[in-house]
Parts: sequence; structure tokens; C-alpha cells
Amino acid sequence: MPTNSLNAQFRGIKKSDGKVAALTAYDYPTARLVDEAGIDLILVGDSLGMVVLGYPDTTSVTLADMIRHTGAVARGTKKAPVITDLPIGTYQTPSQALASARDVLAAGADGVKLEGGAEIAPHIRALTQANIPVLAHLGMLPQKIREEGGYKIKGRSASEAQALRRDAATVQQAGAFAVVLEIVIPELARDISQTLDIPTIGIGSGEGCDGQILVLHDLVGLYPWFRPKFAIARTNLATPLSKAVREFISSVKNTEPNTP
Ligand code: KIV
Repeated sequence: MPTNSLNAQFRGIKKSDGKVAALTAYDYPTARLVDEAGIDLILVGDSLGMVVLGYPDTTSVTLADMIRHTGAVARGTKKAPVITDLPIGTYQTPSQALASARDVLAAGADGVKLEGGAEIAPHIRALTQANIPVLAHLGMLPQKIREEGGYKIKGRSASEAQALRRDAATVQQAGAFAVVLEIVIPELARDISQTLDIPTIGIGSGEGCDGQILVLHDLVGLYPWFRPKFAIARTNLATPLSKAVREFISSVKNTEPNTP
């Protein structure tokens, strides 16, 4: 099994019963704030397509988008590892995955995230053998949203649960340093977490995971038009932001006209 420093670090966190706290960031100021607050991992998620670029889902995000935002996040981050999503269509073969990963690493990422299980094990192996840390992603796969027709909880049927268990073991074996479990039924997510040596990082998958990840905008209420049910907003930054803008507008409009 290929190893790298993130692999040892994240296995170590799990071995010592620690939890992994992870968040997304897409730009310099939020990355810097999140890093200085002490987060364990920053993901430059392709969710940027929705919460920053205004697309309906992640499928329009390009490698050029990820490279640009990875650079901004890396410039704001001193401590946490920066992991960048490889967007849809940029890791169709192991060699394409390697080329795409090298591009985001050149922009400042420490590793990459790929969506999928056994079918991308060769891609994960190629990356980790090239010493590129990989965060795997199982369960609901946002890049498959159009095929699947919505965000559906995963692992309800016996066959789906069995496939998820197999995929989790396979991505670990291929060298992933951790695995995101997105909206997997909590009992199954707990079960998978107990069988792996690498940490599971859950999103909408219950408290039995070895850590949690959220989209920053959901955590701080910066995308008030939609927030998944499982994401608890700890503040509502949209409100003071709108208030400040309204106050600025009225202060400008109500200034006495200049007299000649
Ligand atoms: O793109 C993203 O933000 C993600 C997280 C939701 C895990 O993949």
C-alpha cells in the first residue's frame, strides 16, 4: 500500500481517537480565517461551482477554476493541508488524473479529492504511487447529480450497502489517506468507520464518522437561498452583510448635495 505523510498523519489521528474537522474554502480571506482557527483540512471543493460561481450543481466546474481558487486558498493557508477536488471529466484515466493532479499541486494544493470507489482504484493507486495524497469520496457523488436526478441518501438497500463497504475497503487499499462519506445512512457510515484504518469524514452521515466536513457557506449562513438539512449554520453572515450594504447605500444617497 503506497504511503505519504498525510496518510501517516490521518491514520495517526484516528489511532489516537481524535476527530477530523474539515471545511471548504475557495478564496484567500476565508482560507486564512479557517486556517488560523485551527481546522485540520481545507478542501477547495468543486462546490465552489454552486456557492461561489452560481451554477446549479458542480458539473460546470473546470480544472482552470480549481487551479485559480487553489492558488488563492494556498496563499491564505499556513498550517492545514489544502486538498483540491478534481472536477468532473478531469480524471477519466489514471494518466489524466495524474496530469490534472499535477496542475492543482503546482497551484499550491497538497493533495486531491476524487469521487468514486472501485472503478477509480487504479487512478488512486497511480496518484498515491506518485506520492500525491488522495482523499476519496463515496456515498452521494455530486458529480453524478444529473445521472441520479437529485441528492439521495446512500446505503439503504443491502446491495448498495455492500457496494459501499467494498468501495471503502478498496479506496483504503489503493492508498487514500481518508474518505468522505456523503449522505450515507448513519448506521452504515458508523460501521464502515469501524472497519477502516483511515478516517471517514462524514457530511450528512451521522456522528459515527471519524470526522466531519461542511461547505463553509452552509456553516456561516453565506448562501441563504439553500442549505442542506443536515448542515447546521452556526451564524448567519448574510444578514449583517445585507444590512451593511443597505446602510452604505442610504448613507451615500442621503449625503447633502455639494453646494457650489
Ligand atoms: O465539493 C465539496 O464541497 C465537497 C464536500 C461537500 C465534501 O465535496
